[in-house]
Amino acid sequence: MHVFHTVTDFRQWHAQSAGRPLVIVPTMGALHEGHLDLMREARTLAGDGGSVAVSIFVNPLQFGPKEDFAKYPRELEADSAKCASVGVDAIFAPSAEEVYAPDRSVIVLETKLSKVLCGASRPGHFDGVCTVVLKLFNIMQPDISVFGKKDYQQLAIIKRMVRDLNVPVEIVGSETVREADGLAMSSRNRYLSADERSQATALRAGLLKAKEAWQSGEKGGEKLKRLYLEVLKERAPLSRVDYIECTDADTLEPAEEVGSNGLMATAVFFGATRLIDNIELK
Ligand code: PAJ
Repeated sequence: MHVFHTVTDFRQWHAQSAGRPLVIVPTMGALHEGHLDLMREARTLAGDGGSVAVSIFVNPLQFGPKEDFAKYPRELEADSAKCASVGVDAIFAPSAEEVYAPDRSVIVLETKLSKVLCGASRPGHFDGVCTVVLKLFNIMQPDISVFGKKDYQQLAIIKRMVRDLNVPVEIVGSETVREADGLAMSSRNRYLSADERSQATALRAGLLKAKEAWQSGEKGGEKLKRLYLEVLKERAPLSRVDYIECTDADTLEPAEEVGSNGLMATAVFFGATRLIDNIELK
């Protein structure tokens, strides 16, 4: 497996495999089983003749001034071993200087889907995500890029960016990987205290309760949200809800009535740690 730190080196490698499909998995590192699952999916999509590349870059542009950019875990050696174990062909791990010119002046702004849910609590976050992801597409020139449904809004926004800017890449969404007790895997779970960790299972439990009601015929968005909040109140007294919303799964517009293409998405604080999760109502 190759590890490249510069655009030139990555491109040279990619040029040698001309004509063969490249599937990429963009990440910020601190890899866990959720990321590895995306890589396995990428391996399958690439087939025998294709290549899989993973980008590892903690993107300063998508962190707010009070967020955890400085303390975000950076562990390239351990990450490389994990990538190698699932058959990744190359890692692209550039420095911030390699990615961003000091006098850079162009960014990508998504103007609608990025204003709700996480975008409402993290202004500018998705501008940073869109900018870096488009840059990664331009640098790495993949045929396919895989993203997790764990970050459902991110996936929807990237699909929209690719559609609206005619970016020649196929976006594939992959299922959320969970701990045995249902908590969605995240590099931020390590910040939870033991009590917070056990209460964090309430996010999944609440979403499942709402989905059960929806499957039994309850379509009212407000009612479904109340069911979720009841579970949180009962099982996670240490939590503080940032948001819980019922939306359309593609446009992310709020849904008073949740039809056959719905999404329930939530963000919850435990202390300073912010967890997200979602469930498709399809
Ligand atoms: P990061 O948080 O490292 O996530 C990288 C990819 O892994 C994303 O597509 C995310 O949705 C997926 N992922 C994370 N946890 C997952 C889980 N439990 N199950 C399935 N997939 C999971 O998302 C980012 O990085 C960045 O915003 C990035 C797209 C790399 C741009 O900087």
